[in-house]
Amino acid sequence: MTATPEQQTVLVGVTGGIGAYKACELVRALMRCGFRVKVVMTDAATRFVTPLTFRTLTREPVATSLWADEPGDPVHHVSLAQEADVVVVAPCTANVLAKLAHGRADDLLTTTVLATEAPVVLAPAMNVHMWRKEVTQRNVDALRARGFVIVAPGSGELACGDVGEGRLAEVAAIAEAVEAEARRARDLAGVRVLVTAGPTYEPIDPVRFIGNRSSGKTGYAIAEEAARRGADVTLVSGPTALPDPFGARVVRVTTAAEMREAALSAWADADVVIASAAVSDVRPAARSSGKIKKDALPDSIALERNPDILAELGAANDGSRVVVGFAAETGDPVAEARRKLEAKRCDLVVANDVSGDLGFGTDANRVWFVTGDAAEELPVLDKRAIARELLDRVSALVRRKRGT
Ligand code: PMT
Repeated sequence: MTATPEQQTVLVGVTGGIGAYKACELVRALMRCGFRVKVVMTDAATRFVTPLTFRTLTREPVATSLWADEPGDPVHHVSLAQEADVVVVAPCTANVLAKLAHGRADDLLTTTVLATEAPVVLAPAMNVHMWRKEVTQRNVDALRARGFVIVAPGSGELACGDVGEGRLAEVAAIAEAVEAEARRARDLAGVRVLVTAGPTYEPIDPVRFIGNRSSGKTGYAIAEEAARRGADVTLVSGPTALPDPFGARVVRVTTAAEMREAALSAWADADVVIASAAVSDVRPAARSSGKIKKDALPDSIALERNPDILAELGAANDGSRVVVGFAAETGDPVAEARRKLEAKRCDLVVANDVSGDLGFGTDANRVWFVTGDAAEELPVLDKRAIARELLDRVSALVRRKRGT
């Protein structure tokens, strides 16, 4: 069966655990939600449930091997990876969990998961001692940090007779997680998003500059997540060591003046701006064209103010577009964010406390979403997870402004 244009495809990966029989129920639940469902099974999974069962339920071919491609499809793992709007692996054994955590791709399922850009939901199921092992928990944490959604196993009597965590989560909970990801997968379709990221470097001479420690990780995670959710993304980035995020148009700049020019030009056609860049507030008043010799270095450098890019973008908004700023603070992050919210005419400001170990350059951060009088505090999260949370709020703001 082929999907109707508005129908989303869920790829269900089934691995070799006793919970495999519950995957039949999951497939039915997902089909009742209106999804087109395709199934990929590992070799071990076929020992528990036959491919024929899933073929009968889904009325789709069931893929079990890298080496038994559908006729006319020489790279089956890639086509499966591309047609999936959401991938869910249920049950996910400790072995497959470990393989995914380490990026291994030695069968059709793990190869497909590695090849997909779709969100991936994992529902682990295993013996309680296997689940509690530090190595398994490390794998779960690593996958979560990479953006995989983990539907934690439930507790109770296990097939092996042990009692504890490890039982496949309820089918309804897994289906709910898939539905949430499917909604996210398209919620920014048709939305034009401008993201600024990274530092700016303000040259003193050809080798020295004024800058800051922003790595760009935050802005790049936002750009990638927005593109994954269907947005048309322009990323204006200061100097970073990061590769271009998948699916985004990237404009690389060095100075605040260049970032301003690129951001203003992109803002003319954008619906949303997310200004995560750490723009240098000042620049040297003069730039030497040659390297200043050590003996000739001045005792002080005259500085002049850079333009406030976000304030300009906020001022150019008639209220129909969404403006998100950041506030990196060492004092009271929420109070400062509130001040910037008003001063720069933002709809939301992401406040972060950069006085401790978190913020610049780290993989995780602790942020507050400040809107009007409200300040929502998030726990310490990987920057990719922060991007997801932020874009949930942005998507709601877009819908509210459009009245949809
Ligand atoms: O890049 P990472 O290593 O992941 O680090 C992330 C981060 C700490 C850089 C990020 O979370 C962050 O806080 N970014 C904003 C840093 C900052 O410059 O804050 P600010 O309080 O000085 O600026 C407030 C807002 O105005 C920001 O949205 C900033 O982009 C914008 N701004 C500031 C000055 C200026 N001249 N033009 C601007 O547009």
